[in-house]
Amino acid sequence: MPYEYLKSNIILNCKVSEDIFEMKVEFKSNTEPGQFFMLRKNDSPTFLSRPLSVYYADKETISFLYQVKGKGTQLFSLMNPGEKIDIMGPLGNSFSTAFCGKKTAVISGGIGIAPMVYLAQELLKRDNSVDFYCGFKGMPYCTDILDKKIKVFVSSQEGVAGHHGLITEIFNPSAYENVMTCGPVPMMKIVANMCKEKNIPCQVSMEQHMACGMGACLVCTCETEHGMKRVCKDGPVFDGKELIMND
Ligand SMILES: Cc1cc2nc3c(=O)[nH]c(=O)nc-3n(C[C@H](O)[C@H](O)[C@H](O)COP(=O)(O)OP(=O)(O)OC[C@H]3O[C@@H](n4cnc5c(N)ncnc54)[C@H](O)[C@@H]3O)c2cc1C
Ligand code: FES
Repeated sequence: MPYEYLKSNIILNCKVSEDIFEMKVEFKSNTEPGQFFMLRKNDSPTFLSRPLSVYYADKETISFLYQVKGKGTQLFSLMNPGEKIDIMGPLGNSFSTAFCGKKTAVISGGIGIAPMVYLAQELLKRDNSVDFYCGFKGMPYCTDILDKKIKVFVSSQEGVAGHHGLITEIFNPSAYENVMTCGPVPMMKIVANMCKEKNIPCQVSMEQHMACGMGACLVCTCETEHGMKRVCKDGPVFDGKELIMND
């Protein structure tokens, strides 16, 4: 799918939880779950754009869910509806959703929930039965917006909601035919290994620092059994069996 580069109108940019914001912008092309955009504030002192996954999309708009980490995301959080933001995308591959009718587990950790909400909703539309596991350090966010047909399991390491501990402690891969995950590498490594042991297909969405976002600079490479691959162009979604994840 070709990508577009444009100055997009911000429709909404609001805080949804501590350090977590949702930004909705005008965008009229199709996107697939797992794809991402490179975003930059026009007069930003940060030279590079920042990658953000598609959190929600319809025919007229796309939304991003982002955590304020450093300068780039902080600048995003200060932007207002009506302002324009530079966006380039959709970029990267996507989760393969061609497993119709299968029982799928979607597993996220922290802000890794962003692409997984869109994924879970699309899987449901494509006749999958979906269980959504989302782990958080503290207070959960965005767990109540999923379709009621999706069963949601929550964990919090601080014990403020759901299971007190890690999300991997309440996940049993044997109950599923298909697993998809996004979050911190140590969590995804556990999920991928659990699936490998039971021979269950597992798709992993990787995160790396990025510069160009389109395969040219090699800043974002990750290790796989078939050599180094670019997260922005060959990924961000990889086969869990193929990835070599270092904590
Ligand atoms: C394909 C992809 C999709 C992403 N989707 C989302 C999303 O939907 N929502 C979201 O909140 N974030 C997402 N991220 C991460 C997001 O791009 C970074 O948090 C953001 O670039 C940080 O920029 P900053 O200027 O705020 O922080 P910086 O000042 O650049 O960095 C702040 C801190 O974050 C670390 N950091 C910066 N970039 C990354 C990175 N790519 N991975 C890990 N640590 C990083 C830095 O080491 C530093 O400690 C995604 C990253 C990738 C590669
Ligand atoms: S960010 Fe440049 S090759 Fe991936």
